[in-house]
Amino acid sequence: MAYNIVTIAGSLRKDGFSLKIANALAKLAPGSLKLEVITPAGISFFNQDLEGAPPADWLAFREKLQKSNGVLFVTPEYNRSIPGALKNAIDVASRPYGKSSLLGKPVGIISNSPGPLGGVSAAKHLQNILPGISGPVLQQPEIYLNGVGDAFDADGNLTKDSLKTVLQQYIDAFAAHVAKNQG
Ligand SMILES: Cc1cc2nc3c(=O)[nH]c(=O)nc-3n(C[C@H](O)[C@H](O)[C@H](O)COP(=O)(O)O)c2cc1C
Repeated sequence: MAYNIVTIAGSLRKDGFSLKIANALAKLAPGSLKLEVITPAGISFFNQDLEGAPPADWLAFREKLQKSNGVLFVTPEYNRSIPGALKNAIDVASRPYGKSSLLGKPVGIISNSPGPLGGVSAAKHLQNILPGISGPVLQQPEIYLNGVGDAFDADGNLTKDSLKTVLQQYIDAFAAHVAKNQG
């Protein structure tokens, strides 16, 4: 049986590179992992006033995470951080206080950008956010994907071999991380 990995592509854009990378990872993943690719679309704004009677979309998202064996973040960089929609999803996942749906889940972080810096600042922000509310974050290999703008064909298939190679290395390492960190 494969481990179920919720893979969150961090932007809402339907042609997002993050989504294409997440879909490519789903194909490259070894048989021990099954990647379910989602985006933060449909997760309503976190509001502490609603915590007593949480919206159905929060509960569904939390349940999906709770039932998973691990979570993989594929984030773009917006203004040197993660997109607001992704931060909102994490805020929703993190509550109620002390009962984060990410607790104990092995986590991976992949940043990307069509630009030269690979979204490294976004990845660093996620590395700040997650440790208090998740399970262990895979530390090595680090992966900040730059120049992703020419990596896909018109149908969204990954065509850049150098990118395919690092994604394969990462998802294999992540599979070992997941296997090692099941509660
Ligand atoms: C509001 C906004 C802020 C951005 N800030 C950055 C940035 O700080 N660093 C960067 O490398 N790219 C930045 N970009 C460009 C994104 O990397 C690019 O739009 C990318 O395609 C978004 O990811 P996606 O394709 O997964 O949606 C920004 C784009 C937007 C819309």
